[in-house]
Amino acid sequence: MNTQVLLKERPVGSPTTDTWDITQSEIPKATDGTFVVKIEYVSLDPAMRGWISNAKSYLPPVAIGEVMRAGTIGKVIESKHDDYQVGDIVTGWMGVQQYAVSDGSNGAMKLDTFGLPLPKFLGVLGMPGLTAYFGLLEVGEPKEGETVVVSGAAGAVGMVVGQIAKLKGCRVVGIAGGEEKCNYCVNDLGFDACVDYKGGNLYKELKAACPKGIDVYFDNVGGEILDTALALLNFGGRIPICGAISQYNNRDNVQGPKNYLSLLVNRGRMQGFIVLDYAKKYRHAFQEMAGWMMEGKLKSREHIEEGIENFQDTLMRLFSGDKKGKLVLKVND
Ligand SMILES: NC(=O)c1ccc[n+]([C@@H]2O[C@H](COP(=O)([O-])OP(=O)(O)OC[C@H]3O[C@@H](n4cnc5c(N)ncnc54)[C@H](OP(=O)(O)O)[C@@H]3O)[C@@H](O)[C@H]2O)c1
Repeated sequence: MNTQVLLKERPVGSPTTDTWDITQSEIPKATDGTFVVKIEYVSLDPAMRGWISNAKSYLPPVAIGEVMRAGTIGKVIESKHDDYQVGDIVTGWMGVQQYAVSDGSNGAMKLDTFGLPLPKFLGVLGMPGLTAYFGLLEVGEPKEGETVVVSGAAGAVGMVVGQIAKLKGCRVVGIAGGEEKCNYCVNDLGFDACVDYKGGNLYKELKAACPKGIDVYFDNVGGEILDTALALLNFGGRIPICGAISQYNNRDNVQGPKNYLSLLVNRGRMQGFIVLDYAKKYRHAFQEMAGWMMEGKLKSREHIEEGIENFQDTLMRLFSGDKKGKLVLKVND
């Protein structure tokens, strides 16, 4: 049988078990021009909170009764499509379910995994890694010797941002929740410093970690942390607005930046971006990042939960921070 997670109702505030219907149906069959994927891993992304909201966004909301949108990776088990053969590893937007039928149009892409674990293709070598690459290099435009600060530093996007900034010769300071995550950023990923925003006085500690101020602040979280970074911004500073996870369950009362006049005084720039805008350049970025990975210059860790029935609990780990690295859910053996 095919277990699927469908959107039952739009949550007010945080999603709950009432948000979802977990249903079972027959495993789909391939018809002419389609193939069936046995999904192995589902990606858990903060954007999911936005996709189940009715607010205007860059993608249409998931409809009530529809399979929850999600990035996935799995194996083709049946094919009547000329370009896909049984056994191919395929990534794409196939949703929170165990099996999906595709005509190749839902972002489906065949992968050569070079023997790497599949979850890496939902993280460092997938959408979050590409987000880090384009957001930092094309929006943040870091220059050698500059100070780059990234929030959500130990997460899927943040850990890649910091490592690419190091490769570009920058001083890199992370902001993460807790000592373990900060130690990971410094000791394993090579960041110059990392500030635990749950630990004490963020402004004081960030200022001490950035003695020359902040040239690029890559914002994954918004709220108070964005305000603190704005207060330390240098002349000509850039702030790629990647996300604002601290505000996602609070959409009717989003906390905007109080310190935005820092942009005026410093002739700074704050710019939002969506990774999908760079789709034409994905291949080049993917190749460059895969190269760095093979050379040992780009590391990652993945946090794997198991069981499609645990989707809601796993999703909430994004907001509590109770996870280490890119969060994925294993939905099939
Ligand atoms: N623009 C785009 O195209 C694009 C694409 C992908 C992702 N994004 C955005 O990028 C950001 C990071 O995504 P990700 O996939 O890498 O997630 P992630 O960092 O792997 O997971 C989310 C992390 O956010 C932190 N967090 C949660 N609530 C917080 C709060 N109130 N204040 C501060 N930190 C909080 C937690 O880390 P701690 O334990 O450190 O608190 C948690 O582990 C999200 O905002 C996401 O929406 C944007």
